[in-house]
Amino acid sequence: MKKIGVLTSGGDAPGMNAAIRSVVRKGIFHDVEVYGIYQGYSGLIFGNIHKMELGSVGDIIHRGGTILHSARSDDFKTYDGQMKGIEQLKQFGIEALVVIGGDGSFKGAEKLTEHGFPTIGIPGTIDNDIPGTDFTVGFDTALNTVIDAIDKIRDTASSHERTFIIEAMGRDAGDIALWSGLADGAETILIPEEDYDMDNIIHRLRRGNHRGKRHSIIVVAEGAGSASDVAADLKENAGIDTRVTVLGHIQRGGSPTAYDRVLASRLGGKALDLLLEGEAGKMVGIENNEIVSHNIQSILTGQHKIDPQLIRLAHELSI
Ligand code: F6P
Repeated sequence: MKKIGVLTSGGDAPGMNAAIRSVVRKGIFHDVEVYGIYQGYSGLIFGNIHKMELGSVGDIIHRGGTILHSARSDDFKTYDGQMKGIEQLKQFGIEALVVIGGDGSFKGAEKLTEHGFPTIGIPGTIDNDIPGTDFTVGFDTALNTVIDAIDKIRDTASSHERTFIIEAMGRDAGDIALWSGLADGAETILIPEEDYDMDNIIHRLRRGNHRGKRHSIIVVAEGAGSASDVAADLKENAGIDTRVTVLGHIQRGGSPTAYDRVLASRLGGKALDLLLEGEAGKMVGIENNEIVSHNIQSILTGQHKIDPQLIRLAHELSI
Protein backbone atom coordinates (compact mmCIF):
# COMPACT_ATOMS: atom_id res chain seq x y z
CA MET A 1 0.00 0.00 0.00
CA LYS A 2 1.89 3.05 -1.24
CA LYS A 3 -0.85 5.57 -2.13
CA ILE A 4 -4.22 6.12 -0.51
CA GLY A 5 -6.96 8.75 -0.80
CA VAL A 6 -9.17 10.37 1.83
CA LEU A 7 -12.46 12.22 1.40
CA THR A 8 -15.25 13.67 3.53
CA SER A 9 -18.83 13.28 2.38
CA GLY A 10 -22.37 14.16 3.47
CA GLY A 11 -23.15 16.63 6.25
CA ASP A 12 -19.93 18.00 7.74
CA ALA A 13 -19.19 17.33 11.40
CA PRO A 14 -16.74 18.90 13.87
CA GLY A 15 -13.76 16.56 14.17
CA MET A 16 -13.65 15.62 10.49
CA ASN A 17 -10.45 17.70 10.19
CA ALA A 18 -8.90 15.82 13.10
CA ALA A 19 -9.74 12.55 11.31
CA ILE A 20 -8.20 13.80 8.04
CA ARG A 21 -5.09 14.87 9.94
CA SER A 22 -4.80 11.47 11.59
CA VAL A 23 -5.10 9.61 8.27
CA VAL A 24 -2.56 11.88 6.56
CA ARG A 25 -0.01 11.94 9.39
CA LYS A 26 -0.20 8.22 10.12
CA GLY A 27 -0.01 7.47 6.39
CA ILE A 28 3.13 9.59 5.98
CA PHE A 29 4.60 8.03 9.15
CA HIS A 30 4.27 4.64 7.43
CA ASP A 31 5.67 5.90 4.07
CA VAL A 32 2.26 5.97 2.41
CA GLU A 33 1.43 8.92 0.15
CA VAL A 34 -1.97 10.40 0.98
CA TYR A 35 -4.16 12.23 -1.54
CA GLY A 36 -7.00 14.49 -0.48
CA ILE A 37 -10.14 14.22 -2.60
CA TYR A 38 -12.03 17.51 -2.42
CA GLN A 39 -15.86 17.91 -2.48
CA GLY A 40 -16.64 14.30 -1.54
CA TYR A 41 -17.73 11.85 -4.23
CA SER A 42 -18.55 14.75 -6.61
CA GLY A 43 -14.90 15.81 -6.50
CA LEU A 44 -13.85 12.19 -6.94
CA ILE A 45 -15.80 11.93 -10.19
CA PHE A 46 -14.22 15.16 -11.49
CA GLY A 47 -10.71 14.30 -10.28
CA ASN A 48 -10.43 17.08 -7.71
CA ILE A 49 -7.53 15.22 -6.11
CA HIS A 50 -4.38 16.71 -4.55
CA LYS A 51 -1.42 15.22 -2.74
CA MET A 52 -1.33 16.06 0.97
CA GLU A 53 1.87 16.79 2.85
CA LEU A 54 2.55 16.89 6.59
CA GLY A 55 2.02 20.66 6.57
CA SER A 56 -1.30 20.52 4.70
CA VAL A 57 -2.95 19.18 7.86
CA GLY A 58 -1.15 21.53 10.25
CA ASP A 59 -3.30 23.91 12.29
CA ILE A 60 -6.57 22.08 11.54
CA ILE A 61 -7.13 19.74 14.52
CA HIS A 62 -9.14 22.42 16.34
CA ARG A 63 -11.16 23.62 13.33
CA GLY A 64 -14.77 22.71 12.61
CA GLY A 65 -15.98 21.84 9.10
CA THR A 66 -13.73 19.95 6.72
CA ILE A 67 -10.76 21.33 4.79
CA LEU A 68 -11.58 18.79 2.05
CA HIS A 69 -15.10 20.25 1.72
CA SER A 70 -18.12 17.99 1.47
CA ALA A 71 -21.04 17.26 -0.82
CA ARG A 72 -23.97 14.90 -1.30
CA SER A 73 -23.52 13.41 -4.78
CA ASP A 74 -26.43 11.92 -6.74
CA ASP A 75 -24.08 11.06 -9.64
CA PHE A 76 -22.06 8.73 -7.44
CA LYS A 77 -25.19 6.69 -6.72
CA THR A 78 -25.05 5.49 -10.35
CA TYR A 79 -22.82 2.73 -11.73
CA ASP A 80 -21.32 5.19 -14.25
CA GLY A 81 -20.46 7.65 -11.49
CA GLN A 82 -18.79 4.94 -9.43
CA MET A 83 -16.75 3.76 -12.45
CA LYS A 84 -15.65 7.32 -13.20
CA GLY A 85 -14.53 7.66 -9.58
CA ILE A 86 -12.50 4.45 -9.70
CA GLU A 87 -10.95 5.59 -13.01
CA GLN A 88 -9.81 8.84 -11.39
CA LEU A 89 -8.32 7.00 -8.41
CA LYS A 90 -6.42 4.67 -10.74
CA GLN A 91 -5.06 7.59 -12.78
CA PHE A 92 -3.46 8.93 -9.61
CA GLY A 93 -2.18 5.46 -8.69
CA ILE A 94 -4.33 5.48 -5.54
CA GLU A 95 -4.82 1.95 -4.22
CA ALA A 96 -7.32 2.47 -1.38
CA LEU A 97 -9.68 5.09 -0.01
CA VAL A 98 -10.73 6.31 3.44
CA VAL A 99 -14.26 7.75 3.51
CA ILE A 100 -15.26 9.98 6.44
CA GLY A 101 -19.02 10.50 6.66
CA GLY A 102 -22.38 9.01 7.53
CA ASP A 103 -24.53 6.18 6.18
CA GLY A 104 -25.02 7.78 2.72
CA SER A 105 -21.24 8.02 2.41
CA PHE A 106 -20.84 4.38 3.43
CA LYS A 107 -23.24 3.29 0.68
CA GLY A 108 -20.72 4.79 -1.77
CA ALA A 109 -17.83 3.13 0.08
CA GLU A 110 -19.57 -0.24 -0.07
CA LYS A 111 -20.11 0.17 -3.83
CA LEU A 112 -16.41 0.89 -4.34
CA THR A 113 -15.50 -2.22 -2.35
CA GLU A 114 -17.97 -4.30 -4.40
CA HIS A 115 -16.26 -3.03 -7.57
CA GLY A 116 -12.94 -4.24 -6.14
CA PHE A 117 -11.62 -0.91 -4.81
CA PRO A 118 -10.53 -1.21 -1.14
CA THR A 119 -12.30 1.29 1.09
CA ILE A 120 -12.48 1.95 4.85
CA GLY A 121 -15.15 4.13 6.52
CA ILE A 122 -14.84 6.47 9.50
CA PRO A 123 -18.20 7.50 11.05
CA GLY A 124 -18.40 11.31 10.95
CA THR A 125 -21.81 12.87 11.53
CA ILE A 126 -23.41 14.90 14.30
CA ASP A 127 -26.44 12.58 14.26
CA ASN A 128 -24.84 9.61 16.09
CA ASP A 129 -27.06 7.39 13.95
CA ILE A 130 -24.55 4.77 12.77
CA PRO A 131 -24.69 1.19 14.09
CA GLY A 132 -21.39 -0.48 15.06
CA THR A 133 -20.12 2.50 17.02
CA ASP A 134 -21.23 4.01 20.32
CA PHE A 135 -20.32 7.49 19.08
CA THR A 136 -19.76 9.21 15.75
CA VAL A 137 -17.22 11.99 15.24
CA GLY A 138 -19.02 15.31 15.72
CA PHE A 139 -21.82 14.17 18.03
CA ASP A 140 -20.15 15.32 21.24
CA THR A 141 -19.42 18.78 19.83
CA ALA A 142 -22.94 19.18 18.47
CA LEU A 143 -24.30 18.13 21.83
CA ASN A 144 -22.25 20.78 23.61
CA THR A 145 -23.42 23.40 21.11
CA VAL A 146 -27.05 22.45 21.80
CA ILE A 147 -26.51 22.49 25.55
CA ASP A 148 -24.94 25.94 25.37
CA ALA A 149 -27.94 27.19 23.37
CA ILE A 150 -30.50 25.63 25.73
CA ASP A 151 -28.72 27.11 28.76
CA LYS A 152 -29.14 30.55 27.19
CA ILE A 153 -32.74 29.91 26.27
CA ARG A 154 -33.42 28.78 29.83
CA ASP A 155 -32.28 32.19 31.10
CA THR A 156 -34.93 34.01 29.08
CA ALA A 157 -37.51 31.25 29.64
CA SER A 158 -37.04 31.70 33.36
CA SER A 159 -37.18 35.52 33.23
CA HIS A 160 -40.42 35.53 31.23
CA GLU A 161 -41.87 32.38 32.82
CA ARG A 162 -42.34 30.82 29.40
CA THR A 163 -42.34 27.41 27.79
CA PHE A 164 -39.76 27.06 25.03
CA ILE A 165 -39.75 24.38 22.36
CA ILE A 166 -36.32 23.71 20.91
CA GLU A 167 -35.85 21.72 17.71
CA ALA A 168 -32.62 19.75 17.44
CA MET A 169 -31.15 18.04 14.37
CA GLY A 170 -30.49 14.32 14.12
CA ARG A 171 -32.35 13.28 10.96
CA ASP A 172 -34.14 10.02 11.95
CA ALA A 173 -32.27 9.62 15.23
CA GLY A 174 -33.18 11.18 18.56
CA ASP A 175 -29.69 11.07 20.11
CA ILE A 176 -28.95 14.80 20.00
CA ALA A 177 -32.35 15.64 21.50
CA LEU A 178 -32.21 12.91 24.15
CA TRP A 179 -28.67 13.59 25.34
CA SER A 180 -29.06 17.38 25.30
CA GLY A 181 -32.48 17.19 26.96
CA LEU A 182 -31.03 14.96 29.66
CA ALA A 183 -27.98 17.19 30.11
CA ASP A 184 -30.15 20.26 30.32
CA GLY A 185 -32.94 18.95 32.52
CA ALA A 186 -35.61 19.40 29.85
CA GLU A 187 -39.15 18.78 31.09
CA THR A 188 -40.11 16.92 27.91
CA ILE A 189 -38.00 15.28 25.18
CA LEU A 190 -39.63 14.13 21.94
CA ILE A 191 -37.67 11.63 19.86
CA PRO A 192 -38.61 9.55 16.81
CA GLU A 193 -37.80 6.30 18.63
CA GLU A 194 -40.79 6.82 20.96
CA ASP A 195 -44.41 7.75 20.30
CA TYR A 196 -45.63 10.80 22.13
CA ASP A 197 -49.02 11.82 23.32
CA MET A 198 -50.01 15.50 23.32
CA ASP A 199 -52.39 15.03 26.28
CA ASN A 200 -49.51 13.69 28.32
CA ILE A 201 -47.29 16.66 27.42
CA ILE A 202 -50.08 19.05 28.45
CA HIS A 203 -50.63 17.12 31.67
CA ARG A 204 -46.94 17.33 32.54
CA LEU A 205 -46.77 21.06 31.80
CA ARG A 206 -49.84 21.72 33.99
CA ARG A 207 -48.57 19.45 36.75
CA GLY A 208 -45.28 21.36 36.77
CA ASN A 209 -47.19 24.61 36.85
CA HIS A 210 -49.22 23.52 39.87
CA ARG A 211 -46.00 22.62 41.63
CA GLY A 212 -44.71 26.15 41.07
CA LYS A 213 -42.62 25.59 37.96
CA ARG A 214 -42.72 28.87 36.06
CA HIS A 215 -40.92 27.85 32.88
CA SER A 216 -40.37 24.70 30.84
CA ILE A 217 -38.07 23.39 28.16
CA ILE A 218 -39.27 20.93 25.54
CA VAL A 219 -36.65 19.47 23.20
CA VAL A 220 -37.94 18.03 19.92
CA ALA A 221 -35.77 15.91 17.63
CA GLU A 222 -36.40 16.92 14.02
CA GLY A 223 -37.21 13.27 13.26
CA ALA A 224 -40.08 13.37 15.79
CA GLY A 225 -41.77 16.38 14.22
CA SER A 226 -41.37 20.12 13.98
CA ALA A 227 -41.20 22.41 16.99
CA SER A 228 -43.72 24.74 15.30
CA ASP A 229 -46.25 21.93 15.00
CA VAL A 230 -45.84 21.05 18.68
CA ALA A 231 -46.27 24.75 19.55
CA ALA A 232 -49.45 24.97 17.42
CA ASP A 233 -50.84 21.82 19.09
CA LEU A 234 -50.18 23.18 22.59
CA LYS A 235 -51.87 26.45 21.70
CA GLU A 236 -54.87 24.80 20.08
CA ASN A 237 -55.43 22.01 22.59
CA ALA A 238 -54.50 23.73 25.85
CA GLY A 239 -54.17 27.43 25.13
CA ILE A 240 -50.50 27.24 26.15
CA ASP A 241 -48.40 30.01 24.66
CA THR A 242 -44.83 28.99 23.78
CA ARG A 243 -41.75 30.24 21.94
CA VAL A 244 -39.94 28.15 19.34
CA THR A 245 -36.23 27.96 18.56
CA VAL A 246 -34.98 25.87 15.65
CA LEU A 247 -31.26 25.44 16.25
CA GLY A 248 -30.50 24.43 12.65
CA HIS A 249 -27.02 24.32 11.15
CA ILE A 250 -25.37 26.03 14.12
CA GLN A 251 -25.25 22.43 15.44
CA ARG A 252 -22.85 21.41 12.67
CA GLY A 253 -20.22 24.10 13.28
CA GLY A 254 -17.65 25.02 15.88
CA SER A 255 -14.35 23.82 17.22
CA PRO A 256 -14.48 20.09 18.05
CA THR A 257 -14.45 19.06 21.70
CA ALA A 258 -11.49 17.17 23.15
CA TYR A 259 -13.55 13.98 22.95
CA ASP A 260 -14.23 14.42 19.23
CA ARG A 261 -10.61 15.29 18.46
CA VAL A 262 -9.31 12.22 20.27
CA LEU A 263 -12.01 9.95 18.83
CA ALA A 264 -11.29 11.21 15.30
CA SER A 265 -7.56 10.70 15.79
CA ARG A 266 -8.05 7.15 17.10
CA LEU A 267 -10.44 6.19 14.30
CA GLY A 268 -8.16 7.70 11.63
CA GLY A 269 -5.25 5.71 13.05
CA LYS A 270 -7.26 2.49 13.04
CA ALA A 271 -8.36 3.09 9.41
CA LEU A 272 -4.68 3.24 8.43
CA ASP A 273 -3.88 0.08 10.45
CA LEU A 274 -6.60 -1.81 8.61
CA LEU A 275 -5.40 -0.67 5.18
CA LEU A 276 -1.80 -1.58 6.03
CA GLU A 277 -3.04 -5.03 7.07
CA GLY A 278 -4.75 -5.39 3.67
CA GLU A 279 -8.30 -5.07 5.04
CA ALA A 280 -11.13 -3.42 3.09
CA GLY A 281 -14.88 -2.90 3.22
CA LYS A 282 -14.78 -2.09 6.93
CA MET A 283 -15.98 0.75 9.12
CA VAL A 284 -14.02 1.66 12.22
CA GLY A 285 -15.86 2.60 15.39
CA ILE A 286 -15.73 2.76 19.16
CA GLU A 287 -17.56 0.30 21.40
CA ASN A 288 -17.12 0.30 25.18
CA ASN A 289 -14.12 2.60 24.62
CA GLU A 290 -12.40 -0.01 22.42
CA ILE A 291 -11.59 0.83 18.81
CA VAL A 292 -13.29 -1.81 16.67
CA SER A 293 -14.16 -2.49 13.04
CA HIS A 294 -17.17 -4.03 11.30
CA ASN A 295 -18.02 -4.89 7.71
CA ILE A 296 -19.59 -1.85 6.09
CA GLN A 297 -22.28 -4.15 4.70
CA SER A 298 -23.39 -5.05 8.23
CA ILE A 299 -23.45 -1.35 9.09
CA LEU A 300 -25.72 -0.63 6.12
CA THR A 301 -28.15 -3.42 6.96
CA GLY A 302 -27.98 -2.81 10.73
CA GLN A 303 -29.90 -0.26 12.72
CA HIS A 304 -28.61 2.29 15.18
CA LYS A 305 -30.30 1.85 18.55
CA ILE A 306 -30.77 4.71 20.95
CA ASP A 307 -29.92 3.74 24.53
CA PRO A 308 -33.23 2.64 26.18
CA GLN A 309 -31.75 3.21 29.64
CA LEU A 310 -31.24 6.88 28.79
CA ILE A 311 -34.85 7.18 27.63
CA ARG A 312 -36.06 5.64 30.89
CA LEU A 313 -33.80 7.87 32.95
CA ALA A 314 -34.97 10.99 31.11
CA HIS A 315 -38.57 10.05 32.03
CA GLU A 316 -37.65 9.39 35.64
CA LEU A 317 -35.75 12.66 36.05
CA SER A 318 -38.31 14.92 34.42
CA ILE A 319 -41.21 14.21 36.78
O1 F6P B 1 -26.76 14.46 8.87
C1 F6P B 1 -26.44 15.69 9.44
C2 F6P B 1 -27.58 16.66 9.28
O2 F6P B 1 -27.19 17.90 9.86
C3 F6P B 1 -28.92 16.19 9.87
O3 F6P B 1 -28.97 16.33 11.26
C4 F6P B 1 -29.87 17.06 9.11
O4 F6P B 1 -31.15 16.46 9.05
C5 F6P B 1 -29.24 17.16 7.76
O5 F6P B 1 -27.86 16.88 7.92
C6 F6P B 1 -29.39 18.51 7.09
O6 F6P B 1 -28.81 18.39 5.83
P1 F6P B 1 -28.50 19.64 4.89
O7 F6P B 1 -27.34 20.36 5.47
O8 F6P B 1 -28.19 19.02 3.57
O9 F6P B 1 -29.74 20.49 4.89
